[in-house]
Amino acid sequence: MFRTFIWQLLFIFSLLNYSIFQHIHPSTQQWDYQRHGPDTWPHLFDTCEGEFQSPIDIRITNLIYDPHLHPLSFNGYTTNSSLHQWNFTHNGKTIIAYPPTLANFSISGVSLPEIFYLVQFELHWGYNIYQGSEHTFNGFKYPLEVQFIHRGRFSNALAIVSILFELRQHDNPYIDNLLSILNQTVDTSISIEHQLDISRLFPTDSSPRFYLYNGSLTIPPCTEDVTWIILARKIPISAYQLEIFTQNSIPSNFRHTQKLYSRKILANFQPELHESFYTEEDTSIHHSFAHMKNISNFFLLLILIIFWMIR
Ligand SMILES: *[C@@H]1O[C@H](CO)[C@@H](O)[C@H](O)[C@H]1NC(C)=O
Ligand SMILES: *[C@@H]1O[C@H](CO)[C@@H](O)[C@H](O)[C@H]1NC(C)=O
Ligand SMILES: *[C@@H]1O[C@H](CO)[C@@H](O)[C@H](O)[C@H]1NC(C)=O
Ligand SMILES: *[C@@H]1O[C@H](CO)[C@@H](O)[C@H](O)[C@H]1NC(C)=O
Ligand SMILES: *[C@@H]1O[C@H](CO)[C@@H](O)[C@H](O)[C@H]1NC(C)=O
Repeated sequence: MFRTFIWQLLFIFSLLNYSIFQHIHPSTQQWDYQRHGPDTWPHLFDTCEGEFQSPIDIRITNLIYDPHLHPLSFNGYTTNSSLHQWNFTHNGKTIIAYPPTLANFSISGVSLPEIFYLVQFELHWGYNIYQGSEHTFNGFKYPLEVQFIHRGRFSNALAIVSILFELRQHDNPYIDNLLSILNQTVDTSISIEHQLDISRLFPTDSSPRFYLYNGSLTIPPCTEDVTWIILARKIPISAYQLEIFTQNSIPSNFRHTQKLYSRKILANFQPELHESFYTEEDTSIHHSFAHMKNISNFFLLLILIIFWMIR
């Protein structure tokens, strides 16, 4: 009788605490997207735990149209920059492209207090074509996100312009050049210089549509001094073109979306429901599964306790 009671107690204990056995406690401050992945970052870096973390899910119901935002200006971006040599470096976590030293790419407008200059751009992708982007729209994940990181001219603040890629049936010839360079940068510590014309990635209209919010770096130390500008226009890419990422040494490198807390997401246009928004079926199924698991665990526990008490 007493032995069964001990076994039951042990069983209940393990049911309640099975998650503690899965925790990883690395001694070093390394991080990556596998063993020391995004879920462990808040344990490794205090700064990955704030209320202004990125990325986020952009929900149409949370958007606020702000007619007072200035137009977003891309300075130098839309001119033909292919004569310059970019430096593409694979750092083991992503591919980073450093602009040519003579290039003068910057952004201004919106609500930015000064000119912000391009420091680098980097990419985030996923295991398959149904994921990869860090920011999501109504729970929908895009296959690729390219982030252009800018630093303020006088301050140390950052402004990141994010471009999302959308799956299409046909190849997009304008990104072939970029993809063939990325295809040569599949492994850690490979660094190449290559010409690249990025003008086709940027909207040429005088007032491109964007979403705006205050957030953080999406990689440790997740510093929270970032103005995020997500372009509403998506760049088409085919499943075939996305295949170059399956050859990369990193299968996936995106952080999951973070809580919005009391933050606002502004838009410089009146968002319409039909516009590039997908259903949230994916995530809601996932959520309801997690929910069901919790409920079933609870009932199992309840039955066990009742069973033990009536004995
Ligand atoms: C940019 O310049 C290069 C080299 O002069 C040329 O081959 C390319 O077609 C140009 N691209 C555009 C979009 O004008
Ligand atoms: C770089 O661009 C900014 C904004 O377009 C301009 O004010 C500045 O004079 C440029 N600097 C150089 C060295 O060309
Ligand atoms: C990428 O590289 C592989 C192997 O070198 C090659 O077979 C493939 O065609 C390349 N893809 C692109 C898009 O350049
Ligand atoms: C590219 O930049 C990285 C980091 O700054 C540097 O280590 C590397 O030598 C550069 N590669 C080339 C080909 O210039
Ligand atoms: C971001 O934070 C600054 C400073 O607190 C605030 O003035 C600004 O309105 C915020 N921007 C957005 C989009 O919420």
